[in-house]
Amino acid sequence: MIGLSTKSLNPPHTIQGLMQGQWAGAIISTAASLKIFDAVDLGFRSPDEVARESGIQPKAAELLLNALVGVGLLSQDEKGYHTTEESHYYLVSTSPLYVGKFFEIRPKSQEAWMNLGTVLKTGKPYNEINKQETAQQFFPALAAALFSINYAYAKKLAEFLGMESRQQPVKVLDVACGSAVWSIPMARENKGVHVEALDFPVVIETAREFTEKSGVSEQYSYLCGDWQDLALEEDKYDIAVLGHILHSEGKGRSKELLSCVAKSLKKGGSIAVAEFLVNEHRNGPAFSSMFAINMYLVTTNGCVFSKDELTEMLKEAGFTNVRSLPLEDSDTSVLIADRA
Ligand SMILES: C[S@@+](CC[C@H](N)C(=O)[O-])C[C@H]1O[C@@H](n2cnc3c(N)ncnc32)[C@H](O)[C@@H]1O
Repeated sequence: MIGLSTKSLNPPHTIQGLMQGQWAGAIISTAASLKIFDAVDLGFRSPDEVARESGIQPKAAELLLNALVGVGLLSQDEKGYHTTEESHYYLVSTSPLYVGKFFEIRPKSQEAWMNLGTVLKTGKPYNEINKQETAQQFFPALAAALFSINYAYAKKLAEFLGMESRQQPVKVLDVACGSAVWSIPMARENKGVHVEALDFPVVIETAREFTEKSGVSEQYSYLCGDWQDLALEEDKYDIAVLGHILHSEGKGRSKELLSCVAKSLKKGGSIAVAEFLVNEHRNGPAFSSMFAINMYLVTTNGCVFSKDELTEMLKEAGFTNVRSLPLEDSDTSVLIADRA
């Protein structure tokens, strides 16, 4: 048994800091649902004005606004409170990049995490998110939420692939497209881009909604169903993008999917794979090593890969020249490779 230490000790800063993440989550999602960021963005600068606009107590508004400055989502000067660039784009409800859908799906995801102990003991997932039945309930909202998170990366990918300056028509395959976030910037940058977007039928409706909102719907057609049941045409596409799909498939099926996609690309065509990657020891970065547990909770074979592992899988599937999209400070990594 550990006795009380007789030497001087540091307090449990790491534990406290991590546990307080729950408070921050509650503060941000509640503030967003009360449209606090909308009010500040519209120019209501004092706690009294924000309180009137949002229908909460003035004292509560002051506490909330101060905490939001504390966590870095508002700034404050002599005129009062202001949105930051991040809260302006992502937390104001009228923004096309509003992350509100995440708050809607949070309770469902929390439910799985509340059962972590049982899942760790039984080794059986809490649910199977990538089975068509569950996927139909879960993925439309998740896919819409992910649009906000992935859009900035997807724009960088489109620039990296030189979409704007391509002269020839470009055929793009967006596998497990969700909201079609990874291909929409490509279509927006070049009218010669035509995208075939693949996902379960109900999620395709989400893709339709986002392609319409983004003004590119006429550049899209759809492949509806489980990728395993859809025979992809060979030597057809210039670019294929796989946004956050491999982690729910597990290694065996991911290899199969990469190999199908390799065959569907023209020689010299490129694949882009977006994933949360772990380091070679699989113990960091923190988000990726925690995401591996998330996959254990909600799939049978889901996992996260290391960069070397994914590179090897790409080479095995017939790709060469594997490189990374340069991204700073990001949980998401994007590997790009060419069909040999
Ligand atoms: C995590 S979401 C990613 C969506 C989008 N690519 C993005 O990065 O925002 C995973 C997507 O894969 C789709 N998906 C999962 N298993 C699939 C399968 N077997 N066949 C087709 N789509 C699948 C889901 O419906 C969902 O839209």
